[in-house]
Amino acid sequence: MATTLIGPFTQLLPLTGLPLKGALNDEQLTLINNGGILFSEGKIVKIGLFADLKENVDTIIHIDGDTVCLPGFIDAHTHICFGGSRANDFALRNSGKSYLEIAKAGGGIWDTVTKTRKLLEAELVEGIITRTKAHIKAGVTTLEVKSGYGLNVTEELKMLRAIKTADKITAQQLVPTCLAAHMVPKDWSNQPEAYLELISQELFPVLQSENLANRIDAFIEESAFTAQQIAPYFKKAQHMGFDITVHADQFTTSGSQVAVDFNAVSADHLEASTMLEVEMLAKSNTVATALPGASIGLGCAYTPARKLLDAGACLAIASDHNPGSAPMGNLLTQASILATFEKLSNAEVLAGLTFRAAKALNLNDRGVLARGMNADLVVYPTKNYQEITYQQGQLKPSQVFIKGVPKI
Ligand code: NIG
Ligand code: FE
Repeated sequence: MATTLIGPFTQLLPLTGLPLKGALNDEQLTLINNGGILFSEGKIVKIGLFADLKENVDTIIHIDGDTVCLPGFIDAHTHICFGGSRANDFALRNSGKSYLEIAKAGGGIWDTVTKTRKLLEAELVEGIITRTKAHIKAGVTTLEVKSGYGLNVTEELKMLRAIKTADKITAQQLVPTCLAAHMVPKDWSNQPEAYLELISQELFPVLQSENLANRIDAFIEESAFTAQQIAPYFKKAQHMGFDITVHADQFTTSGSQVAVDFNAVSADHLEASTMLEVEMLAKSNTVATALPGASIGLGCAYTPARKLLDAGACLAIASDHNPGSAPMGNLLTQASILATFEKLSNAEVLAGLTFRAAKALNLNDRGVLARGMNADLVVYPTKNYQEITYQQGQLKPSQVFIKGVPKI
């Protein structure tokens, strides 16, 4: 087994030894000065002082200058498979129209459905690849990607097959999620139950036979599906062995209750959550995922991240990168801004982008730098890790490794 040592890093932050849930302060962070990482076949063998790891190593990747090394970032909620732009929605919102008003008038998610249906699978693959290239430069080494702009069996399959094909080409691993329950399709003339029944009957088995997704998501909201409509759909999905995740409490509450009832891996958005929902999530095993990109894109309140952490929840932070509510897609900028409004420590932000995000995706091979974990690393050209959130996404990684292979 050939071994490679990478380093020395001025500060190496393995993000190990931290609790999965609850508030964190920066004194809890382990900082290894002049640290190194020994890996073999893409997996970490040992981390420690660079000088102590140098003996009997096959290859050394020597890092020059001051650097900070962290686990690669995990973006646990994106919609980067889509066609077209919604710049007009953005302009309409900024002239005073609400997200829900625009959706009701034919813009919103349905507009992207129309544009996505017009694209070939290969064109969707191209779009995903282009967007993941921007994410890798920002240190994102794993991305979840949702369907949800197809909204019938054929078009949802087209999206999920495009995600599967893109996954073989992109630097990052893509984690696919079926979001066929993104809104009631307009061509189903408002028959939500019948639509969901069709999807569960005809799409779910193909997701499994073609290995296209093992996660089912739904948007629970006045403009999409009610908790009552979703319950039989989630029951079927869970019975078939899918993980459940929910777009919850974005504008009105009720989604997080469904997430907790179904022991969902994550409840995402939560901008409208009150203390009732915060405490319920904190008591559960469901990861609360904040999506500051949607708050910035819509000009809405932020997820009550401080309250969630103080109540004891596991908080992940994801970009929600999509053409409607969150077109920016810069995860670190968004997380750093969330930190200023919600008063999050660096440890809470970094945990939310790494091991807590891994939990939201049920991935146990990444998110911290420790023996047996993937050698997914982001390296910043600075001597102080505090610069990363301080520069709000403007400090770019100098190197990014996935399973020990350089990707930028
Ligand atoms: O997570 N809230 C629902 N779905 C997406 C928005 C998708 C869109 O507007 O196209 C979200 O914000
Ligand atoms: Fe979303």
